[in-house]
Amino acid sequence: MMQGNHLSEFPGKLLIRELGFRLLRRIGIAFSLPIKERPVRPEESCSNSSGALGIKDDFSRKDKALNTSMENALSPELITSLVTDLPIADTDSLDAMECFDKAKTLINLNKIPEAFAYLNRARAIVHQFPYAMLELRPIAQLYHNAASVAWTYRDIDKAQAFAVTALEADPKLDAPRELLREIESTSTGPDTTKHCYVFYDPDRANLIHREAIRRCLEFTAISGVIGDIFEFGVLAGWTARIFAETMRDCMIMGNLRLYDSFAGLPEYESVVDRESYEIAGRNIWSDKMKFPDDFVKSLGGSLEKHIKDRLSTIIRSERIETHRGFYSESLTTPIKGKAALVHIDCDLYQSTVEVLDALLRDDVFQDGCVLMFDDWNCNRGNPNFGERRAFQEFLDMQNRFTTSQFFTYGFNGAAFILHECMT
Ligand SMILES: C[S@@+](CC[C@H](N)C(=O)[O-])C[C@H]1O[C@@H](n2cnc3c(N)ncnc32)[C@H](O)[C@@H]1O
Repeated sequence: MMQGNHLSEFPGKLLIRELGFRLLRRIGIAFSLPIKERPVRPEESCSNSSGALGIKDDFSRKDKALNTSMENALSPELITSLVTDLPIADTDSLDAMECFDKAKTLINLNKIPEAFAYLNRARAIVHQFPYAMLELRPIAQLYHNAASVAWTYRDIDKAQAFAVTALEADPKLDAPRELLREIESTSTGPDTTKHCYVFYDPDRANLIHREAIRRCLEFTAISGVIGDIFEFGVLAGWTARIFAETMRDCMIMGNLRLYDSFAGLPEYESVVDRESYEIAGRNIWSDKMKFPDDFVKSLGGSLEKHIKDRLSTIIRSERIETHRGFYSESLTTPIKGKAALVHIDCDLYQSTVEVLDALLRDDVFQDGCVLMFDDWNCNRGNPNFGERRAFQEFLDMQNRFTTSQFFTYGFNGAAFILHECMT
């Protein structure tokens, strides 16, 4: 984690009270939760028609009214009640409005993290659900204020976690972004997640991957495909960072689940891989994508811990899972939950087969789930090898899912949408 933390825990209520009052004096504002005003109805503020890229953000008119309702002081008790590990909102049977109503009740009880969880669910069911968006603004401000207090006392971990949570509530808020930049400027050492190790032109790769990932995440968000984002093939976390940033900015509240050996490619067991252009012909992965031990040591721990720590400056650490190990072993543990998107970037036919088999076995796929294959055109795009062959075999061997191609990206990638047969 970030270094320099000399106040790891708020030491008690008195300090909290003092922090609250200092904060209020320092920032010179006072606000209240709950907000007493009824938010405008969605149909008043925007169009929620299908295909719209989210709901038009024309809340500015209402900002004034919202702010004037922030009358009462941010109480120390409220600060202490804030946590970043949001409870699970048990909402399977609820629609967005019902989630919102539940959140309002919780806000009236000052149960802010619980309310936050229901509001998240509401905006997952209906992307940028306007009632939820309005209610999340003061919550974002509240978390930002808590972050500022923690930062004043150089409690870096808490400041970071609260600021990240504030941005999850409202990614348009500038102040927590600035605070995170300030916190980051105190951190030393490398950040592998900012480094593209794979493509010859990192700037171009960045543009292409950001756009492709955004398109896919927007599709899932706007279609209401709710689930986690899985990545198979993480290396040092470059695409994982793009996912985390885009999830935050598109308000996608699933978890980010990262699977890799974190020790390079496995032995080439399949004859399909051994005979492929990339291996038999050119042996392009002769280093097996394994970082030297000294380099990993310089990260101050394991590669996966380094990646998780770095990505925790973007989305809450509770939302990031790392699973270390070769898939032949790590995927023997059943995978819980549903996927909204699966990013397959593990180069090999054999690895892709293992991934697709495990996700099917554990019922992780769902209608509308997006599959992104980053190595679609490896091996000269020949369908007898690599990810192309693995995906075709997957489609042939089961009759629950069909697919249609969404788009291709860059010289190598392709995205697909899975369709569940509804007979
Ligand atoms: C091309 S890299 C991933 C690049 C990454 N997405 C990025 O942003 O830079 C391929 C990764 O797949 C992993 N991998 C491939 N097959 C695997 C397997 N069977 N088990 C675990 N990891 C595997 C390798 O360890 C490697 O880190």
